[in-house]
This record gives sequence, C-alpha cells and structure tokens, in this order.
Amino acid sequence: MKKKVFITRRWTESVETKLRNLYDVTLNESDRPLTPDEFKVALQNYDAVCPTVCDSFPADVLNVENKRCKILANFGVGYNHIDIAAAKENGLIVTNTPNVLTQSTADIAMTLLLMTARRGAEGDRLVRAKKWTGWCPTSMLSSNVTGATLGLIGFGRIGQAMARKAHHGFDMNIIYFNPSAADEYVIQDLNAKRCNTLEELLRQADFVSLHCPAGANTKHLINAETLKFMKPTAHLINTARGDVVDSLALIDALKTKKIAGAGLDVYENEPNLNAGFLELENAALLPHLGSATLETRTAMGEKVLANLAAYFAGTALPDLVV
Ligand code: DGY
Repeated sequence: MKKKVFITRRWTESVETKLRNLYDVTLNESDRPLTPDEFKVALQNYDAVCPTVCDSFPADVLNVENKRCKILANFGVGYNHIDIAAAKENGLIVTNTPNVLTQSTADIAMTLLLMTARRGAEGDRLVRAKKWTGWCPTSMLSSNVTGATLGLIGFGRIGQAMARKAHHGFDMNIIYFNPSAADEYVIQDLNAKRCNTLEELLRQADFVSLHCPAGANTKHLINAETLKFMKPTAHLINTARGDVVDSLALIDALKTKKIAGAGLDVYENEPNLNAGFLELENAALLPHLGSATLETRTAMGEKVLANLAAYFAGTALPDLVV
C-alpha cells in the first residue's frame, strides 16, 4: 500500500507528478496557507507531512494526540518555523533542503545590495510615477559597490556564496562575523578577515549582509543599539530571516538616516510586514524571493523526495535536522 503524504502548498509541476506516482498524496490544491488545526489533522492522518518555511509548527501543534506522522520533511533549508525540541520530544524526524538554494539566495542578496546601493527601487518608482525630469549631474547620486567592504554576519554556505559573488564580481573586501572560522581555502580565495565582535564588523562594513539562522541567539541581533555601530553611509541586506532584525529599530534608523539604506527579502511576521517600511524611499523591498527560481524550487522538491524515499526505505536520511 502506498504511504500517505501531505503537502501543505503547491510545488512545481515535475515534483508534484513524482509525488503522485510514488505516494498516496494530498496536495493543497487551493494553495492557501493552512491553519494550525489543519496541520494537527494532517499529523494524525498521514505518514509524512511536508511543510514549507511559512507553515508554523509550534509545540501545541506537534503535541497533538494520536499522531500517525513520524516525519516532517521540510521544503526549505530554514526550520525556525518548527519547534525542534517539541518535534524531538514527540518522536518526529525533521529534514530540510540545504545546498540547492545557496546560489539563488545569494543572487537575491546581491540583487538587494545593488538595488539599495544604487537606488534601483527608488529610481524605478520615480520613472513609473512620471516624475523623472531627465539626466542631471547631481540627481539620485548613490555610492560605489565596487571596491567597498562587505560585512557578512553568518558565514555558512549562503554567506560564502554571497562573498564569492561580491569579491570576484565586484572586487569587494570581505569581512565576516561567525561563531567559527571559515576553512583556510575559503579565507585565501576571498582574502576574508574574521571580526572578533559584531561591533567590529558593523563599524567597518559599507554593506552588512545577514546570513545567520533565526533562533534565540540571533533574535533582534540588529537592534537600536547595534544599528548605532553602522556607518551613516552603510546599507543593511537581509535575506536570512525577519526575526534577526528589530523592524521598529530599523525603520527608525532608515527614517532618521542613521544608516543609508536597506535591502530586505524577509520580515518579521511575513507577509504582514510593518507598514513603516512602505513609507521609506531608502528601503528596497522584495517578497521573500531568495529561492524563487523554477530550477531551485524544483531542486528543493527533489530533496524532499529524496528524504522521504530514504525514510520509507529505512536508510540514512540525506538531510536530517533532528
Ligand atoms: C529557506 O529555504 O529557508 C528559504 O527561506 C526559502 O526561500
């Protein structure tokens, strides 16, 4: 008998076809976000549940009685939406989809860096509003990206991919703040300098790009106090998670020009971001596009399929979180 698998959102066509062939699969045909009660019912009725990074699985959902499900095969690399300790207590395995979204997420980080540095979003709005009065030597001046210093907070796969694009493509100087030092070959390749403190990085960087996981240690890492260390000419890029930045503090810093600009792909309380961001000319705002290419989303689905296959075959899980 085919295993019962529950998919919380629509996936790309090719992986949905594979799912249908392999499993007794329930797809969320409407593609609307599901409720905690619907997740509880799924945990009770399916052998595997496959959530996305926007589906919240807190302890009270995971503690539901009479669970049939033993695996949450997450569609995404980040898993801060799942209470990992509660999953463990409830005997649930969690897997994720690392590696395949590294380049597309770093591409979006670089896109945001360029958009905020060169006032791309602002310029687009100006043209569309028919307010552009023509080229002029002093209009819409911004700052150079080439040769500037990029500070990466978090220097794992995505942080390093961003650093490679910035260093080899734009001749940027690379500094980073991370719990551990990068491998020697990475340091050599990027001429990367490790900062001992967050303050040290924030004081030096022209662009600060966030690549750390969300969690208790990084919640509001960028806040009113730490924003004060940034240069008034500096820009903040966030493609990691909204919770890493205190939205109110960032809005204030942008409004009062304590920093020059921000490029954001992720927000606290997505998709209901703080409306204050919408008023800011010096913020470039994207709708969580990091992994949003057809190739990457398909590769993420393939990863989930590989994790499910290994789980049902009783072999080692390729991307075990817990
Ligand atoms: C992830 O996989 O964690 C990303 O945020 C999805 O784009």
